[in-house]
Amino acid sequence: MQICESKTKIFALQTNFRRDGASIGLVPTMGYLHDGHMELVRQARAACDRVIVTIFVNPAQFGENEDLSSYPADLERDLAMLETEGVDAVFTPPRSEIYAADNETIVETTRLSRILIGRLRPGHFRGVTTIVAKLFNICQPDRAYFGEKDYQQLQVIRRMVQDMDIPVEICGVPTVRESDGLAMSSRNVMLGKEDRLAAPVLSQALTAAEEACSNTNITSRTLDKIIRSKLESQPRAQIRSIDIRDAATLAAIRGIITRPAVALLAVSFGTVLLIDQRTLTPLSDKP
Ligand code: PAJ
Repeated sequence: MQICESKTKIFALQTNFRRDGASIGLVPTMGYLHDGHMELVRQARAACDRVIVTIFVNPAQFGENEDLSSYPADLERDLAMLETEGVDAVFTPPRSEIYAADNETIVETTRLSRILIGRLRPGHFRGVTTIVAKLFNICQPDRAYFGEKDYQQLQVIRRMVQDMDIPVEICGVPTVRESDGLAMSSRNVMLGKEDRLAAPVLSQALTAAEEACSNTNITSRTLDKIIRSKLESQPRAQIRSIDIRDAATLAAIRGIITRPAVALLAVSFGTVLLIDQRTLTPLSDKP
């Protein structure tokens, strides 16, 4: 496994891969890897001849009062996990390699980046699209893998690729969970013991909403109520947002759910913001 800190080195490596006629799968991450990330790697490994993983905690996607400085890191452990999984190259650039001091260009989806989590975290998705566009240019993958856990991020990246004619196939991977249902996240280690015990309430609330979708004529308002009452039963959970949206466009759905929808939750436990999501198929759409 090759470890590259410089753009020149990873660029030369991917050029060699391509010269050999190999297809390239890219898995962008911010490190502190867990089994959710590894599932992306495994899917890339299964579908592509060469796999590149990037590890870069991207300052541009963190707000001023967010957890950039406390974001967990363990590069040695990450590299050992990636080696075991048969990854070909890891790109771990220092910040100066990615953002020159006179850097001024951004890539932004103007609608999708400002709704939902974009309202809670202004500038976040602009940071994500800019770094992902740069990583695509540096690594030139055929396919790139992103988790459905960050559902809005996945849709934002799909939109960017379509709008900018970027020749990369975006592959979405279902959320990997702990045995108690909590979606795996690098942020879970920041939860105190009590909050960690309380956190599965997100997936329980989503399961309640999913079950309610087996009723006919279920409305987005009813789903919101079901989710809210489940979350409110857990006093440690502070609801930041509950949204029932169109699964593809993330547009608000009013009234009866007649097309595939997604429930998006953002819930704080102390200073830690957790998100989770579930796609919901209305009875009329089920096979
Ligand atoms: P990070 O939070 O490290 O996540 C990297 C990738 O792993 C993302 O595509 C995310 O959706 C996916 N992932 C995280 N937890 C998962 C889980 N439990 N199951 C399945 N997939 C999961 O997301 C980012 O980094 C950054 O925004 C990035 C795209 C790297 C740009 O900086």
